[in-house]
Amino acid sequence: MGWFSDDIETFEHLFVHSLQDIYYAERQIEKSLPDMIDKASDAELKRGFQMHLRQTKMQIKRLEQAFKKIQRTPQGTKCPAIDGILEEAQDIAGDVGDKVVLNAALIAAAQAVEHYEITRYGTLTSWAKLLGHADVAKLLYANLKEEKATDKKLNDIAKRKINKKALARKPKGLTPAERLEEAMIGIPPLG
Ligand SMILES: [Fe+2]
Ligand SMILES: [Fe+2]
Repeated sequence: MGWFSDDIETFEHLFVHSLQDIYYAERQIEKSLPDMIDKASDAELKRGFQMHLRQTKMQIKRLEQAFKKIQRTPQGTKCPAIDGILEEAQDIAGDVGDKVVLNAALIAAAQAVEHYEITRYGTLTSWAKLLGHADVAKLLYANLKEEKATDKKLNDIAKRKINKKALARKPKGLTPAERLEEAMIGIPPLG
């Protein structure tokens, strides 16, 4: 859908478009979580991500039920917002060398995802109610509650231990070869 297309005319169309947007987002999140599970080196954080992957699969099922209730085929629509959030998460995870600091980075990235989902499900739940889809609103609200609980858990673990551990990490000492390499930088070539 482009800026100047008129695919969305009514509030109901807008609702369906947003439902497709979160459906796409959840499926991208489902694909990204296994990588975050692999990268997390804290057992509690790893378990948390594993649990959220199971919840995400259930959330996708709820969305499919929601589509069914409004007589639509479950279908996604490309969501550049979640693509950007997930891409940035991958980039930062690739850049963090220390695995303890990486845990803090993973939580921050996961919370960005949760906040995106919370805003979407908040909007969708109230729109579903307004449009008279009370049963769909219930399904969306179930997802919203899980996202909020996940965000809270991530916040708790970050504050309780992960950020403190990350703060306590010292920069890695350079090996003699790396020191030599550093010393060579800036020396003009001979000749
Ligand atoms: Fe989700
Ligand atoms: Fe989530």
